[in-house]
Amino acid sequence: GKDIVSLDQFSVEDLTVLFNHTRQMKRIAENNEPSRLLEGLLVGLLFFEPSSRTFGSFAAAVKRLGGQTIEMQNPEVFSSVSKGETFEDTIQVMEAYTNAIVLRHRFSGAAKQAALAANFVPVINAGDGNNEHPTQTLLDMYTLYERFGRLDNLTGLLAGDALNSRTIHSLLRGLSLYENNTMYVLSPRQLQLSRDDYVSLQDRGIRLIEIHREQDIPKNCDFWYWTRVQKERFASAEEYQKAQSEIVVASPELLKTYAKKDMILMDPLPRVESVDPAVDADERAVYLRSQIRNGVYTRMALLALVLGRL
Ligand code: CP
Repeated sequence: GKDIVSLDQFSVEDLTVLFNHTRQMKRIAENNEPSRLLEGLLVGLLFFEPSSRTFGSFAAAVKRLGGQTIEMQNPEVFSSVSKGETFEDTIQVMEAYTNAIVLRHRFSGAAKQAALAANFVPVINAGDGNNEHPTQTLLDMYTLYERFGRLDNLTGLLAGDALNSRTIHSLLRGLSLYENNTMYVLSPRQLQLSRDDYVSLQDRGIRLIEIHREQDIPKNCDFWYWTRVQKERFASAEEYQKAQSEIVVASPELLKTYAKKDMILMDPLPRVESVDPAVDADERAVYLRSQIRNGVYTRMALLALVLGRL
């Protein structure tokens, strides 16, 4: 099937095709060009966890291409999940109405479970617990590709909650498909990558260097990728507060001290005490300038490919 569950499913060739289509999609969206690419198709947006960007950009992507959406947000309150309907049944109901299901869920592995439950339509993972967020990585990699013209030979700094950030997990998988990438991972020790993730990523050939102190940040990074501490994954408010107090915030001073003139600063957002708003005015900060819109363009391309319209 064409389920999109993990970055592991993509090859360099797949990503090249996707990014070529993404450029066309950008043109369509920027010019408000009417498109009939998804005409007659319905996409179900099933979001068990809150979202601003992923939900909004999938809805925008479907509608920009002339398709329609069925939207279920907070199904635990507003759907028959509240009456005890099983996850598998909810998926099978949604697939009876739609041509694809976009799923966000708090459980790691939920997208895979949904893909097994769905018999007729593809399932696209819009973030499953602290596991993966593949469509975020597609937009992140497109942002890097647009800026640098390549996805190999990059040096990056990924900061924040490496343990729980599904965006970091998928991005490292994506960048490991390309040659000679070196990624510094800056986090407090309790938020460093799980040892399983660390070993399996290193095995793919990406060079990972874990650091824990601001003064160890290298000055040669092509990009920084900042993430918030994932509050919703912590067992207690105290543990969260402790972790939050130990993270390095991206501030104008930090950029001044450690960032190259031609680097870019990315953040999947939401930023919660991860990037100081005073950085927004810096031309290198692309989280508001391009990442959000690139989310629409890449999801347009992905949907059209998955639904067989490209
Ligand atoms: N980047 C991202 O996934 O944002 P949302 O949680 O708002 O969708």
